[in-house]
Order: sequence, then structure tokens, then C-alpha cells
Amino acid sequence: METKSLPNDSTLIIGAGLAGLFTALEMAPMPVTVITAAKLGRGGSSRWAQGGLAAAVGDNDKPEYHFNDTMAAGAGLVDFHAAKVLVEEGPARVEDLIRYGVEFDRDENGKLKLGMEAAHGLHRIVHVAGDQAGAAIMEALIDAAHASSHITLLERTIADELIIDENGRIRGALLFDIEAQKRYMMSAQRTVMATGGIGGLYAVTTNPKFAQGHGIAMALRVGAEIMDPEFVQFHPTGLDLGIDPAPLATEALRGDGCHLVDNKGHRFMTDLHEDAELAPRDIVARGVAASIAAGNGAFLDARTAIGSRFKDRYPTVYKSCQLKNIDPSTDLMPVAPAVHYHMGGIRTDIEGRTTMKGLWAVGEAAATGVHGANRLASNSLLEALVFGKRVADSIRKDDPSTKQVRVGFQQDRLTLEPKPAPEEIFQHLRNTMTAFAGLLRTGDSLKQAAANLNEIQDSDVLTSGLQNAVLAASLICLGGYAREESRGGHARTDFPETSETRMHTIFKWTPETNLTHHFEKLPDISKTPSETSS
Ligand code: SIN
Repeated sequence: METKSLPNDSTLIIGAGLAGLFTALEMAPMPVTVITAAKLGRGGSSRWAQGGLAAAVGDNDKPEYHFNDTMAAGAGLVDFHAAKVLVEEGPARVEDLIRYGVEFDRDENGKLKLGMEAAHGLHRIVHVAGDQAGAAIMEALIDAAHASSHITLLERTIADELIIDENGRIRGALLFDIEAQKRYMMSAQRTVMATGGIGGLYAVTTNPKFAQGHGIAMALRVGAEIMDPEFVQFHPTGLDLGIDPAPLATEALRGDGCHLVDNKGHRFMTDLHEDAELAPRDIVARGVAASIAAGNGAFLDARTAIGSRFKDRYPTVYKSCQLKNIDPSTDLMPVAPAVHYHMGGIRTDIEGRTTMKGLWAVGEAAATGVHGANRLASNSLLEALVFGKRVADSIRKDDPSTKQVRVGFQQDRLTLEPKPAPEEIFQHLRNTMTAFAGLLRTGDSLKQAAANLNEIQDSDVLTSGLQNAVLAASLICLGGYAREESRGGHARTDFPETSETRMHTIFKWTPETNLTHHFEKLPDISKTPSETSS
């Protein structure tokens, strides 16, 4: 097989969403090669983000307030240090985006307009053109990347395996050039996983279908630890329009006063939480699911709160509704929970270093612990920026030792075609995950999911993409099965209580032990700041 080598001080970044691209930009002037499966800007979930970016930039806000809301939403599992870093460095990263040319919405005095979203104690979300933050931020960063001579872009290229050297350091990846239909080894001194989330593994998701957790699978196979894969976040208000992936009705709508009602017009969230529609996301998602399961449906009502201003204020949501002739200024919007975000992922420290030398992870693919068991709304774009910069700084300090070393990869990967999963069997996988590893789970349902996944793994249509997807999905099921409690995004109806012991689920694979898992207790959180905004 052909081997290509990046220059000695160069880094390979796998993924060109917000996390990958911002990391690449922040690495200047060090050379970096970024690969992306789609054309730049066409793939990834970042550009779909509607809600915006949470940061303590308001006059009456403080990082401590943002910290406390992040900790509370995360249901006891948020890493203290990661959360502190996120909230303290957040405002500077918003400034960075403004320097890159992002035009956040401003009020008549030129101050940033701040929106409200669930579980935030005050208005703290910056937006662009109402609900177009993700697209606008990506556009600005793509322009910057094109203008940056230290960045080489390899579009229409996928990675499906990492390369490891005889000392256990990751040294690049096995790549596949989709246009040339050619596989080759790309050796690099440092590799960053910025492969995004797992929503595509579910039949109902707001993510692009190809968000299938491939980065998690690749990292696991070379020995990196995977943390808390069972924590999958469901957005309460995917638009239930029979469209796959499900268009999102941003949480900002509820922050703007829209209500959730059933088919009798009853505001069911008022029965379930004192913050009603603005309760933490996991609670609202389960409330919506319960109303649907009871046969009462669930609808977002924007008629009074927004009315005729809807089209201008929320153009993306408006456009989606138009596809089914729904006018949100006069009609109710049917909604249902949809997989939206993965709190679990490749375990990293607060510099984005994984447990393997030479390998970093950033953005949704990473588990820094910053989101705990349930991410606070609009903390994800912020995470990509804050930890993207930290990854870049950490790489700058890294000494890879350029002595000649032997490198290799799991040879059995070459027996699998480097292709995505065949459509029919992949849909079976997605249906399995939604039915048995979804918003509500039991030990039995998760066992059923794992059994279906094993069958898929043994099928004769296995491709390298399908194998990666099956592995990522299996970790979600195994983590969910092992965690005998309900917490944040993980709701076991056979274990409805939250355990007093706060612990992470850790998975690791080695050729000697195969897949093992253990729980790791979190340290005491008695030293958290006590200031609060609410
Ligand atoms: C939304 O707009 O509701 C999504 C925001 C987020 O997931 O953080």
C-alpha cells in the first residue's frame, strides 16, 4: 500500500466541522492537513446548529453563573476543571469568532443580543440571523481556512483506521480517497479526532446520517479509552414532519416564550417541572415522549409568543415547516424527541489529549467530561472552540520524537471494503438503536439491541464503515446496560433512581484483554463556586 508522510512537524486532523477547522486555524503557523469526507462545508453537524453559542458575555453575567448552570444540567457528572475552562475561556472565543468575521445579532445599541435557552439562569446565548449561527460561523471559518497557507485540505477523503507505532504512539491514519477509490497510509506525528457525533446511528436524529461514531471506533481499536458512551442527548423538539434527518425546532423558541402543548392544548410541561418548557433538556424530552406515548401528541406553539415575526426571526425553522405547508405563525408545529448530541466519546484531558500518545480528540467526538450526563443547551459550539484552541496549544508543546519507528495497523481491516454501510442493513441498525437503546431503556432492551448489532457485525455485507458504526453503537448499548441507574440523558425504566455514587463508565480494548469496562468514581465536588444567577 502506498504511504504518504506529512512533514515532520505536521498534524493530521480528521474532520472539518467547527472543532476540526478551529483547531486547524489556531495551529498557525504549524502545518496541518485536514481531511473531510464531504466537500468542505457540505458535511458535519456544525453548520446545522441553530441555537448559537453560550458564553458569559452579558453585563449581568459571570463565568461562575455559566459554570453553575453547566454543572446543574450535567446531573452530577460534569468535570469541574473542564467546566471551569469552558466558562472562563468562552468569552475570549466569542471575540475570536468576531475577529474571523462572524456577525452576531446585536441590539439597537450595538451590544450582543443575548437569547435564553433551557436550564440557563439568564440570557446568555449569542445568535446569528436568528437561527443561523452554525452556518454563519462555518462560513467565516471556511473562508479563513481557504486563506491560510498552513492548512492543506483533503476533501472527499475518509479515515477508517489509525496507525500505531511500536512504542504505542499514534502516527496517522489509513485514508481512502473517494474520488480516486484509493486507500493509502498517511503517516503523521500527531493526529486529532474531530469526527463529530453519533446521531446517524439512530432512526430519528437531527444530525447528518453519516455522524456514526467512526472516530470512537477507530480510537477504541488502537487502545484509547472511551468514556460514558451511554449518554446520548435527545433534543425535545425535533420537527416531526416525516423527514430524515429530522429538522430542528431550536430551543431558542422556547426561550422566546413558545409553549409545548398536547392535542387538547394543554401545556403538559407545567405538570412535570417548575421551569416547564425551560427545564433541563432530558426532562423536557421525556415529557414530550410521554405525551406522544399517551396518544396526546406534542406540538410547539409559537402563535402568541412570536406570531407573524416567525419567518424573519427563525428562517431555518420556517423553511422546514414550509416543506409540509405548516405556517408556525398560525399553525402548531408537531414535535418529537430526536437524537441530537453525544456526551460520551473518546476520553480526553482538558488539553484534548486522549489516553494514547500522539492522539488528541476535540468537539463532539471527545469526552472531556464538560457535559456530564446532559449537555447544557448551546455549550457544544463553545466546547468546540474552547477545546480546539487548547488542542492547538497542546500540540505546539508536543515533542513527537522523530526517531525512525516501525508503524502498523490491524491488517484485518484491509479485508473490509472502505465503504459506508449498505443502506438497508444500516437502516436496520438505526431502527434497532431507536427501538432498544433510545430515550427510555431497560436491561432487556439493551441486550436485544446488542444481539441485533452482533448479527449485523456477522453479516456478509460488512464494510469498514459498517464495522465502525456497529462498534460505536455497541458501546452505547454496553455502557447503557452496565449503568444501572437513571441520570441525565440515560433513563433506565428498570433502574429509575439516580445512584448516590457518581461515576464514569470507561471502555478499553487491547489485543490481550479484548473489550473491558470499569467504573471510575468522580472526586468530591464540595469546592464548586456557589454564586448563582437564578
Ligand atoms: C438548539 O438550537 O436547540 C440546539 C442548541 C444546542 O443543541 O445546543
